[in-house]
Amino acid sequence: MARVFVTRRPVGDALARLAAAGHEVDVWPDPEPPPPATLIERTQTADALLCTLSDRIDAALLDACPHLKVIANYAVGLDNIDLAAAAERGIPVGHTPGVLTDATADLAFALLLAAARRLPQSAQAVKDGRWGTWQPDGFMGADLVGTTLGIVGAGRIGEALAKRASGFDMRILTTTSRGGTPLPELLAQSDFVSLHVPLTPQTRHLIDARALARMKPTAFLVNTARGPVVDTEALTQALHAGTIAGAALDVTDPEPLPPDHPLLGAPNLLVVPHIGSATPRTRAAMADLAVGNVLAGLAGEPLPHPAPAPAPSPAAPDASRAP
Ligand code: DGY
Repeated sequence: MARVFVTRRPVGDALARLAAAGHEVDVWPDPEPPPPATLIERTQTADALLCTLSDRIDAALLDACPHLKVIANYAVGLDNIDLAAAAERGIPVGHTPGVLTDATADLAFALLLAAARRLPQSAQAVKDGRWGTWQPDGFMGADLVGTTLGIVGAGRIGEALAKRASGFDMRILTTTSRGGTPLPELLAQSDFVSLHVPLTPQTRHLIDARALARMKPTAFLVNTARGPVVDTEALTQALHAGTIAGAALDVTDPEPLPPDHPLLGAPNLLVVPHIGSATPRTRAAMADLAVGNVLAGLAGEPLPHPAPAPAPSPAAPDASRAP
């Protein structure tokens, strides 16, 4: 019998498979993550760790947890885990690719539409009693048909977003670490820019002041990837200065964003609390994959959904080269 520490109760009944396999399951009961010292303490006696993107799994934790045979992230993104440190210690790491592609692409497109058609501003006006008579130029938004969507990082989610956008007759540009439209050109040509790169040292602040300055003043930025891909301060300034038309974010840096954070004072901004995969079917499917990774790791088998090899990290799309 192995001991599994689970840092947040997942959606669905996937954990029952661990108990059915005879494993002891220790589930952190709070909605907030275990504090770092508690995370180490509870993982110290565990053979497997099922964690979420808000648990930092670094070399110090791994050194303190000698029994650990497998780490299963309840997420597709892996930036919360030091993959190189896990590999050095021979600990396989798994994640949840594929099952959250559609839900996340749906949310990215919902953010794009909401920003374009000014849904938050219009809905707020109704609540505030500012719904006057119909005006020819009231609450004007942006058209989608015939505009250009720039997709930065054309993996599964980027491709699923492109599928949705093609239904709106949008022109698609993509940039990846392997090619496509160079990022500076994509930024300059797009009416909407949507981010779909993993967070790595190469993609941290990929969208910085220079990148934002390349965007059209009528363009919108959508981020459903990871907050630190965007330089928050630069985005705050760009929104205040009106050098871009707006931003719609599912992820922020820091996350969660405190209510008094300067970013929230910026105009034409929509922020939702990291809900890209938040549908019951998606979150239950993610739990199934995570539990499958735990069971395989404990059985000494290859993980069905292993993390990609940690290093060397691929080059990020380059924002600094002139178009
Ligand atoms: C992920 O899986 O990486 C998402 O950000 C949360 O579902």
